[in-house]
Amino acid sequence: MWKIWVFLSCHVSFTNLKCEMIDSNFGSFEICRIKAVNRTHKYIDLHLKLNKLPINTLMVKLEAMRFDNGYRPFFTAMKFNFCQYMKNPQHRSMIFLKEIHSTFVNASNFNHTCPYNHDILVDKFWTGNLEQAFLQYLPVPNGEYALYSTYYIPNKPRLLINAYFKIKN
Ligand SMILES: *[C@@H]1O[C@H](CO)[C@@H](O)[C@H](O)[C@H]1NC(C)=O
Ligand SMILES: *[C@@H]1O[C@H](CO)[C@@H](O)[C@H](O)[C@H]1NC(C)=O
Ligand SMILES: *[C@@H]1O[C@H](CO)[C@@H](O)[C@H](O)[C@H]1NC(C)=O
Repeated sequence: MWKIWVFLSCHVSFTNLKCEMIDSNFGSFEICRIKAVNRTHKYIDLHLKLNKLPINTLMVKLEAMRFDNGYRPFFTAMKFNFCQYMKNPQHRSMIFLKEIHSTFVNASNFNHTCPYNHDILVDKFWTGNLEQAFLQYLPVPNGEYALYSTYYIPNKPRLLINAYFKIKN
């Protein structure tokens, strides 16, 4: 399905990170940033403060976008049940979520089964991990891309995190 190999020589660089509370009663982003250590090394820090705890149900929608007069989807959006995924991360239908999640699981407390009763932190997550994961899935090497993620708790969209990146040979 999504898995199409591209030349490993192409370079992915993160250009922007956007965090937005759709429902501001639900919480707030205290931190949402890409920090550049130098030209090649960047990392992501996030602090999502949550007001309505615990979280027992969480759906994540992932959309791969490509820039062409605005960002447009180039694959069907996929929706995953995150709590179910954490119970059984090896399940085959969850393979794409697993790929994304495994890139930051060791830099985050977003790493256990539901319920969640604390803020979500991502600390110095090196973007190079994401670059490697994306390289396995992107069908077209060159261009501007984005990965949109929307979080439904329990079934209403509450927040979104969009990562933007550029791919060059
Ligand atoms: C960028 O910083 C990282 C981490 O400190 C280091 O490993 C890497 O060699 C640096 N790269 C360049 C081009 O300076
Ligand atoms: C996360 O860290 C654990 C323990 O060090 C390690 O076994 C695991 O492979 C790491 N996971 C990823 C996806 O890097
Ligand atoms: C999740 O991450 C936190 C913070 O890094 C760590 O203390 C905890 O042991 C991790 N839990 C699991 C199940 O890996």
